[in-house]
Amino acid sequence: MPALPLPSCLTVPTPLPFLPGQTFDLTCSHVVEGDCREVLRALPDGCVDLIFADPPYFLQLQKELRRPDRSLVDAVDDDWDQFRDFTEYDTFLRDWLTQCRRVLKDTGTLWVIGTYHNIHRVGATLQDLGFWLLNSVIWEKNNPTPQFRGVRFCNAHEELLWVARSKECARGYTFNYHELKAVNGGKQMRSVWRFPICSGDARKKGGDGKKLHNTEKPLPLLERVLSACTRPGDVVLDPFAGTGTTGEAAFRLGRRFFLIERDPTYIEYGVAPRLIRAELELAAEEKREGEASRVATQLSLPL
Ligand SMILES: C[S@@+](CC[C@H](N)C(=O)[O-])C[C@H]1O[C@@H](n2cnc3c(N)ncnc32)[C@H](O)[C@@H]1O
Repeated sequence: MPALPLPSCLTVPTPLPFLPGQTFDLTCSHVVEGDCREVLRALPDGCVDLIFADPPYFLQLQKELRRPDRSLVDAVDDDWDQFRDFTEYDTFLRDWLTQCRRVLKDTGTLWVIGTYHNIHRVGATLQDLGFWLLNSVIWEKNNPTPQFRGVRFCNAHEELLWVARSKECARGYTFNYHELKAVNGGKQMRSVWRFPICSGDARKKGGDGKKLHNTEKPLPLLERVLSACTRPGDVVLDPFAGTGTTGEAAFRLGRRFFLIERDPTYIEYGVAPRLIRAELELAAEEKREGEASRVATQLSLPL
């Protein structure tokens, strides 16, 4: 990871830790290290066009999981996914979702992704807070992790809830119906989407060369959400940025982004390098190879 701050010829933002009392200029993009419940309170009312949230699932794994050959499955047992009980989890949901609703424009929409462990609690909380459900979308994984013990169905999907700020706001939001139909062979885009989970080279690596994050989402999934529900120049917020997938999708599609992530390691090895690489790739595509390779050499990044 390059030493910060980034070279001035790059337009992607330098990630910075949140400082109490800080304000933000939303005419440009930001990567903020901090707790989203605190950082969101620093944003004004009605300033964001789209929110994509991939919150902790509260998986409550009871014991280690092994494959038939006894090898250990790298499960989501991270500290960030631990809550005492449902009461604590529900309070957490209510806290950040209340702030999301406040910062969302009346014309904006919010997406939350989750699994059967949490998505029903998310849905109930959204409705309790006054959000209005527009769709639920199923992300079907064409390469899911098998159900190793053979005691349940193989869990091959996650669910996304798409909501407007309120019933009254459920008109006038962005939905690029015709563009979606065009990329879907002339047929209406449906609510079941098929994408592979992130694997191999697509997966961000940590300083030890191993998988950086247990729940990195695939870029095409975020590109679908953002291209469906935003316009160029819109502000896209992700309160649980992880490796920064939402930021990369926003950057590649010409949207502004505001990413919040609590863990500096994910920012250092995930968000920052992926944004720099995206900018260098775009520069190379736009025939600014000289600039791209100069910066890549400076940052020791392969292009
Ligand atoms: C499910 S992961 C998001 C993965 C992300 N969508 C990606 O593609 O890489 C949730 C992330 O939220 C972060 N997180 C958990 N609680 C947080 C909080 N209160 N504020 C900010 N980030 C938080 C975790 O560190 C974790 O990286």
